[in-house]
Amino acid sequence: MKGLLKQAKSAKPKAHSENSPKKGGFLTDIVSISDFSRGNIELVLENAAKMEKLPRDRKAQILKNFVVASLFFEPSTRTRLSFETAAQNLGARVVGFADAGVTSTKKGETLSDTIKMVENYADIIVMRHFLEGAAKRAAEISRRPIVNAGDGANQHPTQTLLDLYTMKKEFGKIDRLRICLAGDLKYGRTVHSLMYALSKFRDVTVYLVSPKSLEMPRHIIEETKHSLRIVETQSLEKYIKEFDVLYATRIQKERFPDEIEYEKLKNVYIITPELVAKARPGMRIMHPLPRVNEIEPEVDRMPAALYFSQAANGVPVREALLSMLKGAEK
Ligand code: CP
Repeated sequence: MKGLLKQAKSAKPKAHSENSPKKGGFLTDIVSISDFSRGNIELVLENAAKMEKLPRDRKAQILKNFVVASLFFEPSTRTRLSFETAAQNLGARVVGFADAGVTSTKKGETLSDTIKMVENYADIIVMRHFLEGAAKRAAEISRRPIVNAGDGANQHPTQTLLDLYTMKKEFGKIDRLRICLAGDLKYGRTVHSLMYALSKFRDVTVYLVSPKSLEMPRHIIEETKHSLRIVETQSLEKYIKEFDVLYATRIQKERFPDEIEYEKLKNVYIITPELVAKARPGMRIMHPLPRVNEIEPEVDRMPAALYFSQAANGVPVREALLSMLKGAEK
């Protein structure tokens, strides 16, 4: 399989990088999207496009005899199933759990000890955890590559890569896009990672639409404002004619300390066919899913609805990532 996928050029880690690149320039862990250079993001997108064209039998050789561990300490449908599908498509065997309640975590085993065990069984470890920073901690401990499949309200870097892949496929570019991030920008980890990623592209405008209490964390705005044009508003309609992408997010019930507050905000933005009719004809709606009430089912039939094909793009993007982590030396 040598030469099948493009390798990164000698990308030196940036000052803010949390983990270092393996030989050839790619990362040894996927913890934070901030660790990616623009070049590395583009490489993942190019390799994902190649994965879509690769015959099944050739693809199945890439991780033959490898084992991928899939450790989900928090619920998931798309991320877990698309990672496991990707690993199996590449010929790997998959071990792991979808419910930490059936593991020795229940008996009090720490995350550190769990990782020290699993690194003996698997070549790559994909992990979702409810604690912010859990993936970083696991990466510090593990001699195997750790892939962050979401850590609390912090980051979801592989979701961001599939989001960017979807935008690139749809618009042919990411530079100069006008992207609205709407909903729960405080607790939504997908929009946190997406802000950092978009700041690596040129002339991107980001409209941050949220209620006051669910605004994008100020430190993320401070860290990205040098390269993004940022517009903050509570109104979804005000700038709708300007959006190329309306990226809706779920109000993250599970992260609210106060359920009454959640009840007050849960239906704050609802995308209806009438609202979509006010947008430019080329506007596309994205959503990391799952949705609850924020997009009416009638919108699914409209040409603007991109969210199900966005989710489908998770497989080639995760195939690319797993293949690029093959043989990572820490
Ligand atoms: N987008 C996403 O992370 O979905 P799941 O929670 O179903 O994995």
